[in-house]
Amino acid sequence: MLILGIESSCDETAASVVEDGRTVRSNVVASQAAEHNLYGGVVPEIASRRHIEAISGVAAAALAEAGVRAGELEAVAVTFAPGLIGGVLVGVNFAKGLALAAGKPLVPVHHLRGHIAALYLTHPQLKPPFLCLVASGGHSHIIQVLDYTRFRVLGRTVDDAAGEAFDKVARTLGLGYPGGPAVAKAAAGGDPKAYRLPTPRLEGRYDVSFSGLKTAVLNLVNQAGMKGETVSVPDMAASFQFRATEILAEKLMLAARETGAEKVCIAGGVAANAALRSLLERDCAALSAELYLPSLPLCGDNAAMIASAGYYEYLAGSRAGPDLNG
Ligand code: KG4
Ligand code: ZN
Repeated sequence: MLILGIESSCDETAASVVEDGRTVRSNVVASQAAEHNLYGGVVPEIASRRHIEAISGVAAAALAEAGVRAGELEAVAVTFAPGLIGGVLVGVNFAKGLALAAGKPLVPVHHLRGHIAALYLTHPQLKPPFLCLVASGGHSHIIQVLDYTRFRVLGRTVDDAAGEAFDKVARTLGLGYPGGPAVAKAAAGGDPKAYRLPTPRLEGRYDVSFSGLKTAVLNLVNQAGMKGETVSVPDMAASFQFRATEILAEKLMLAARETGAEKVCIAGGVAANAALRSLLERDCAALSAELYLPSLPLCGDNAAMIASAGYYEYLAGSRAGPDLNG
């Protein structure tokens, strides 16, 4: 069963054909990151325009690479939320048009469910239930994946998302956008114990917070500036990354212990972080839980994950009509 996935909720225009929810037949991603880098972050108006320019070509390329005609598809799956509304609407309207023209059903996919489905593409044997941290530029959720289409959110960020904190710290340190990979790279040459940064204390047992951590970095940089000094960028990047990944790993492992999870997963852009991956490898081994990591190209936004999630949503009977909006 072939599903075409479409993704345009942030700064990647993407289309992909996935077979039976598990086998990637094509995965085309047109990234706008270089352009947004000029402004230090995603500019929604520019993103929408670039999606409009790219979407037809990207979808055509995904079908061509897979060697599939639109008529051979079972359905078209598209991210309908959450995301930058202008970008989401480009993908949704393109998918609606294509589904209508090809006489195929349209399946709405929640972007976070898509990130989780990246795990099914990386690990063909992985089945729910499992516990999953979804950490991206907009979300940091600890989720019990009960079934392919049933989820329970145990915890979330009470302020900034983890990826957002990486992006803001990168900006403070003059490292550019997207911040996550830049901070990780700078951190490789730094001492994670050089700066003592705060750990949040939160009421929600599985909630996380990054705003205090981000502000602590900003304050240290400003204080140094006022004294005519500079902070060490590698040391600050390493100290921030150390604390940020520790916050995520601690809450995820607490949830794993208390829910008796046998399988622990991470997904979303921040799942590409090598420090987070190795922390969890250590912690999951100590708990005798199995750890599943998405392959690096499938951590960030892509449409293969949308097609995979769309496959399971389709099997569960989810359909959208022409009134679908972002
Ligand atoms: O999932 P994603 O591609 O888009 C959203 O749905 O938001 O996540 C993007 C986020 C950005 O904030 C980016 O800085 C972060 O993921 N990110 C990373 C790394 N690679 C990307 N954060 C930490 N370490 C990384 N290696
Ligand atoms: Zn995403």
